[in-house]
Amino acid sequence: MLSRKSDFPIFDHHKKLVYLDSAATSQKPKMVIDAIKNYYETQNGSPHRGAHLLSIESTRLYEDGREVVKNFIEADETSEIVFTRNATESLNLIAYGYIRKFLKPDQNIVLSITNHHSNIIPFQRLCHETGAELRYLYCDDNGSIIESELSKIDQNTLMVSIPMISNGIGIKHDVKKIFDQAKAVNAICLLDAAQSIGHDDVSVKTLKPDLMVFSGHKIFAPQGIGVLYGKKEILETFDPFLSGGDMIEYVEEQSTTYADLPERLEAGTQNVAGVIGLKTAIEYINEVGLENIISQEQEMTMYAFDALEQLDFIEVYGNRNRGALITFNVKDVHPHDVASILDSHHVAIRAGHHCCQPLMKYLKHPSTCRASFSIFNSKEDVDQLIYALHQVKEVFYE
Ligand SMILES: Cc1ncc(COP(=O)(O)O)c(C=O)c1O
Repeated sequence: MLSRKSDFPIFDHHKKLVYLDSAATSQKPKMVIDAIKNYYETQNGSPHRGAHLLSIESTRLYEDGREVVKNFIEADETSEIVFTRNATESLNLIAYGYIRKFLKPDQNIVLSITNHHSNIIPFQRLCHETGAELRYLYCDDNGSIIESELSKIDQNTLMVSIPMISNGIGIKHDVKKIFDQAKAVNAICLLDAAQSIGHDDVSVKTLKPDLMVFSGHKIFAPQGIGVLYGKKEILETFDPFLSGGDMIEYVEEQSTTYADLPERLEAGTQNVAGVIGLKTAIEYINEVGLENIISQEQEMTMYAFDALEQLDFIEVYGNRNRGALITFNVKDVHPHDVASILDSHHVAIRAGHHCCQPLMKYLKHPSTCRASFSIFNSKEDVDQLIYALHQVKEVFYE
């Protein structure tokens, strides 16, 4: 099994670390760290603003990054790629720059109950503001959307927003089926790819979202860079969410005309180092090979899933149709206690509601443990997780 641990300098500093929290944020390969360091040491300038060498170079690097992202998700044009801080900012830009303009009191927005808070709250706020209805597609115990729920998508649905892979239970949704229903009533299809990009094939050509969001930091890039993809004709109708420098054509005392896409939606000095990090992270993924990543992570996840299912003191949530993450509980032990004991055995997992409180409440397990996997993990990491869980059992049961 492929393990790229030596590409990640963090493990030189934490020799015993078993990092099973990539769904929260990924570790960074040396290649990405070096690219960011090199930018600040040799190329740093303000993009889109100056006529001098470093400014021109920064602009070129920033726009190169856009091209790499465009190719990675198979968008048609670079103007369909808007850089933001993270998936959360992309979702807020959609809510306040676009949906707010069109949402009427007699319409509804349809979300999956598996959505992350960032893919709920902006739309919940808009529904409160306008009186529009917020509907949820409920799921079965495995996290799969129940087929009959799709009838909630109707002629009054303005937008349907779902995650491809749920960060709360791990399920991989049938994006095509849900979007087909949405397209049949001309609803906007928004895909949250935060947990699937870099772990699965996320092509806008095959998945056909109208809008898609993700964060760089979950795919080996630094924190503080995110992406909003939008079909050009849809992005054209967006109002700027933030305004200021860099997004204008002319500013008069009493009025402003805006720049073309995508600059119109990217106010202020942009995160060039973040874009370089994201570009390099995608190059790293391409170098390792997305197919290799998918098969290694799936093998690891299934190995862990089977091992966890064998333990009678563990309750595992969901089935095998999942991304590279597993949620579970040690029976009668609070997940925070489990995570602390695991940490004392060098195993880093996430514990809590995973920013999915509506899902957790609906499934009646308000807090869980989550182990998530990446290409630097090995089966030994899973074995260490299982060993540490036995230590939890010893502390609490014996
Ligand atoms: C499915 C999903 N959507 C959105 C987000 C929000 O990402 P960020 O906090 O980077 O904006 C996350 C983060 O965990 C997530 O897992």
